[in-house]
Amino acid sequence: MNGTPRTIVVTGAASGIGATTAELLRSRGDRVISVDLRSADVCADLSSPSGRADAVAGVATLVGDGVLDGLVTCAGLSRAGARQVSVNYFGTVDLVTGLRPLLARSAAPRVALVSSISSTQPADAAVVDACLAGSEPDALAAAEAAVAAGRPHEIYASTKAALNRWLRRTAVSEEFAAAGIAVNAIAPGVVLTPMTEELVSDPQWKAVMDAAVPMPLNGYAPPEAIAHALLWLLAPENTHMAGQVVFVDGGAEALTV
Ligand SMILES: NC(=O)c1ccc[n+]([C@@H]2O[C@H](COP(=O)([O-])OP(=O)(O)OC[C@H]3O[C@@H](n4cnc5c(N)ncnc54)[C@H](O)[C@@H]3O)[C@@H](O)[C@H]2O)c1
Repeated sequence: MNGTPRTIVVTGAASGIGATTAELLRSRGDRVISVDLRSADVCADLSSPSGRADAVAGVATLVGDGVLDGLVTCAGLSRAGARQVSVNYFGTVDLVTGLRPLLARSAAPRVALVSSISSTQPADAAVVDACLAGSEPDALAAAEAAVAAGRPHEIYASTKAALNRWLRRTAVSEEFAAAGIAVNAIAPGVVLTPMTEELVSDPQWKAVMDAAVPMPLNGYAPPEAIAHALLWLLAPENTHMAGQVVFVDGGAEALTV
């Protein structure tokens, strides 16, 4: 165990990066409250406002009179479609906002979002703008329009680009930085999880992915590489980082400039 045990919420904890992060936190003696569609302490569907409200209420019940020290938002969808807007963007920001009062009770509250290298790729401005305006119906309509226009792949990039921009303005606000709550993000490159299993095992898709996300430093990442970076963002030692998107991507983002 490292230091005093902390209580950390992990969304998307039933698989991939979330499962690995939860496991690592537990191995260090922390208490994890997992949130996912199934196989979690709090089973909730983050694709709907009511599901998100259920998730926040479920966590609040488990925290009780205690303290919530951290939140990691790993729940996400890669299958192209409007639902990505609801899970990847609103499923993240509503949890951060909803759990803020519980986080504010901690002596060292930390939030770590999971963004993506895709946030650097072509996005749909209407989806991004509607997300940042906080309008889920408008964002869903813009995403449906992108699908109809033959650009469904832009939705994922749009949700992650919007998340990065929301992070930058939220992290420095009265509610977060001024309340001592550090909010930052890790943006992974390609990580070997169930999300990418099919893609990397298909030579054609693998070639597309390798061209889009070249990773000269050590290639595809195991989920542990992302989990360790997330753990640092969550640590009490992370006292002065706010609103940063840290690319843990084998150098892919550096190659874009
Ligand atoms: N794997 C990669 O290469 C990669 C790269 C960049 C970013 N990411 C991001 O990392 C995060 C984790 O991805 P992963 O690779 O571990 O994927 P994964 O598919 O293994 O895990 C995602 C988890 O999110 C949960 N989830 C999905 N929809 C949900 C909903 N409506 N409500 C509640 N939970 C829901 C799933 O049940 C699953 O347990 C995602 O945000 C993803 O966009 C992944």
